[in-house]
Amino acid sequence: MEENISNEIDFDKIDIKSEPPTEEPFRQYFYMAKCREWVKDFKQRNGRLPKSFVLNMGCQMNARDSEKLTGILSNIGYEITDGEDEADFVILNTCTVRDNANQKVYGRLGELNGCRRRNPHMKIALCGCMMQEPSVIERLKKSYSFVNLIFGTHNIFKFAELLYMTLDAKGMVIDIWEDTDKIVEELPVERKYSFKSGVNIMFGCNNFCSYCIVPYVRGRERSRKPEDILREVRRLVDDGVVEIMLLGQNVNSYGKTLEQPISFAELLREAEKVEGLKRIRFMTSHPKDLSDDLIKVMKESKKICRHLHLPLQSGSTRILNQMNRRYSKEQYLELAGRIRREIPDIAITTDIIVGFPGETKEDLEETLDVVKKVKFDNAFTFIYSKRTGTPAAAMEDQIPEEEVKERFDRLLKLVQETARGQVAKYQGSVMEALIEEVNANDDTMVTGRLSNNTLVHLPGNASMVGKVVQVSLDECHGFYYMGHPI
Ligand code: 5AD
Ligand code: SF4
Repeated sequence: MEENISNEIDFDKIDIKSEPPTEEPFRQYFYMAKCREWVKDFKQRNGRLPKSFVLNMGCQMNARDSEKLTGILSNIGYEITDGEDEADFVILNTCTVRDNANQKVYGRLGELNGCRRRNPHMKIALCGCMMQEPSVIERLKKSYSFVNLIFGTHNIFKFAELLYMTLDAKGMVIDIWEDTDKIVEELPVERKYSFKSGVNIMFGCNNFCSYCIVPYVRGRERSRKPEDILREVRRLVDDGVVEIMLLGQNVNSYGKTLEQPISFAELLREAEKVEGLKRIRFMTSHPKDLSDDLIKVMKESKKICRHLHLPLQSGSTRILNQMNRRYSKEQYLELAGRIRREIPDIAITTDIIVGFPGETKEDLEETLDVVKKVKFDNAFTFIYSKRTGTPAAAMEDQIPEEEVKERFDRLLKLVQETARGQVAKYQGSVMEALIEEVNANDDTMVTGRLSNNTLVHLPGNASMVGKVVQVSLDECHGFYYMGHPI
């Protein structure tokens, strides 16, 4: 699904023989026009269009960035494929939140090197969070010299220009910025889903949780202007979108650094007014910044989904201090309790890390206690991963892996129990579901998502995709329901 902006650019009117403009986004339009000439040439030489494959390896933020890369590639004239085998241009949009994310990239590069031998046209590009780590760039230069293009998170808007430089270049093109205060608007985007979309509201993070690499790879917090966000939302709705997810590392501190400050709750009030928009989600909330006003807006809203992702990370106040989370166990419990009281049908989900340096068995008990008390509707559990350059990496008492594994299994078991209990609460009731897709293995069934984020499978067909339907939740199967439309 192409968002309108690209239809408004007339690439044929751009004089590609002139000097490139210095202003953005016009400079990128210029390079897109230049790449289009290259694509025409490719087609003449090869009798087909070049193909590209964009692989998103990270979070929702990363997925939205992948849609921007895809938007630029398809505007240039590339055919988009969903596998690397036949692609002429492959771009891996990397994550680096835990070390296994990095390992996956190296593994994938090994495979791509094989594909590249079979397809001499193939160019390989890397971008995203992992590229912001200097040690990664060193390793790539040394051992993966077949990679053609590397750029980071701060200059993703420059993709067309960098691609143009890469098309006929020999050797590696590398462009990494340490930080930026720039936000470039009005670049083309191609959405994965016709009916739902992420919308960035802010970039970067200022929290510096001691285990987390994100502030180092995504830079300082900066918010988009509300008018730019709302214009994008309106455009998306005009284009058939019914559900948006507002994206930021810490949405609760949205707007604080703008010339005319505005709170996240106020932004939500404005988004609610967009006619035709049916559902609003957002991700991620930091407990320390969650305001009473936000709870009030959620409670009063007809469009904000009954789901709050509220990362706990640990239930031990001592570990929370070490993590620099700036709340205690009691404060988290009080907040979660207040949210559940005010909005009884809300689902609260969370992220938890086990094995943070110095974590004892008693600390884990505290975490288990919070899980029991809050009864999370779902929880993502992670084994602590040491990230070079973060304060936690230098802490003493890094815990041996065997010990962490055992703790992790205990936590996972408990989390699954509470989640099952929570999901099952709605058995027999009728709820609205937004139908997202036809099931891959059975085309007489579709999958929908409830406001509280639970999935439901029901009989249906492709014509229902993107529609909100009333569904009877007949049978709870742990984390999802089987149901039928009413
Ligand atoms: N090790 C393990 N998990 C981590 N996360 C962030 N950094 C680390 C790390 N170093 C988890 C947090 C965060 C989620 C996106 O990833 O739980 O909320
Ligand atoms: Fe997303 Fe963080 Fe991974 Fe970057 S490092 S893709 S921001 S989870």
